[in-house]
Amino acid sequence: MAAKVLVAIFVIFASMFTVFPASTNPLPFVLFHGIADECSSARLQNFTATLRKWSGAQGSCIEIGNGFMDSFFMPIEKQIEVACKKVKSMKELSAGYNLVAESQGNMVGRGLIQTCDGGPPVKNYIALAGPHAGVASPPLCNETQTCVLEANLIRLGVYTKFVQERLAPAGYIKIPTDIEGYMKGCVFLPRLNNEISGQKNSLFKKRFSRLQNLFEQDQTLIPRETSWFGHYEDGSWNKILPVQQTKLYTEDRIGLRTLDKAGKVKFINVTGDHLQISFSDLQKHVFPYLRAN
Ligand SMILES: *[C@@H]1O[C@H](CO)[C@@H](O)[C@H](O)[C@H]1NC(C)=O
Ligand SMILES: *[C@@H]1O[C@H](CO)[C@@H](O)[C@H](O)[C@H]1NC(C)=O
Ligand SMILES: *[C@@H]1O[C@H](CO)[C@@H](O)[C@H](O)[C@H]1NC(C)=O
Repeated sequence: MAAKVLVAIFVIFASMFTVFPASTNPLPFVLFHGIADECSSARLQNFTATLRKWSGAQGSCIEIGNGFMDSFFMPIEKQIEVACKKVKSMKELSAGYNLVAESQGNMVGRGLIQTCDGGPPVKNYIALAGPHAGVASPPLCNETQTCVLEANLIRLGVYTKFVQERLAPAGYIKIPTDIEGYMKGCVFLPRLNNEISGQKNSLFKKRFSRLQNLFEQDQTLIPRETSWFGHYEDGSWNKILPVQQTKLYTEDRIGLRTLDKAGKVKFINVTGDHLQISFSDLQKHVFPYLRAN
């Protein structure tokens, strides 16, 4: 009985491939989820399966720690360590892979690209609503107990060592009117984005510039432009600098300008709430990159 069911599924998949011819052997993909989520959630299982089905590529959602709680309370640099170990242990990724990340998962994904020594290479990077230039206020929280815990931690001072060691988003909260606090106290994003003069890591740039394609979807973070590496101007809550006017871009601190000038970055503006990307947008912007070899 079970065997028959499996055969039937195989036939359905085989015909999908005929309808949507892809490269015969697309690279596998990995998916990193955002805060307050986990690979086993119904939405993510569906999303992962959808990506597999319509790209014809093998792929999986990579969980970090216990999922939901660790997405809040494990510092991003720890999450990257875990992710780095996992991708190295996955033999199927050794020839390279495509990376899809949602929201906070982009901090893990980009950290992986830039800092994972000896990890397999990432080819296409599909960044959905990533807080790349930092967020000016913590991400939406929708689970009462956890939110209270998060809010209490933030009240202690987001740039204190205590909070930096205990709250994932503290690693990428960039308050435009406290840039000094951010530069001194924020342990993650200023380094990832090569913002600290005298401490720039050229390897980060070299690795990031190696990407074949970078796809960036903007979304309802604060400010939304952060998904495209834009942010408030230092010291201001009013003026938002588009990516091309940020120092990260003009000084090409991590290689984003290099990629952009080579026509490898797609900045995409889609309508919909945070992490809601329509099937037609997936078809237009996401599946093609996952089919690539
Ligand atoms: C994902 O969910 C939608 C809506 O419920 C459903 O139509 C679709 O078949 C699901 N996709 C997969 C691959 O399970
Ligand atoms: C919070 O969760 C509830 C129930 O799942 C949902 O109806 C509501 O839209 C969510 N709010 C936000 C801000 O995500
Ligand atoms: C993105 O779309 C929104 C809503 O349509 C619009 O307000 C905004 O100006 C667009 N941004 C860019 C950079 O095109």
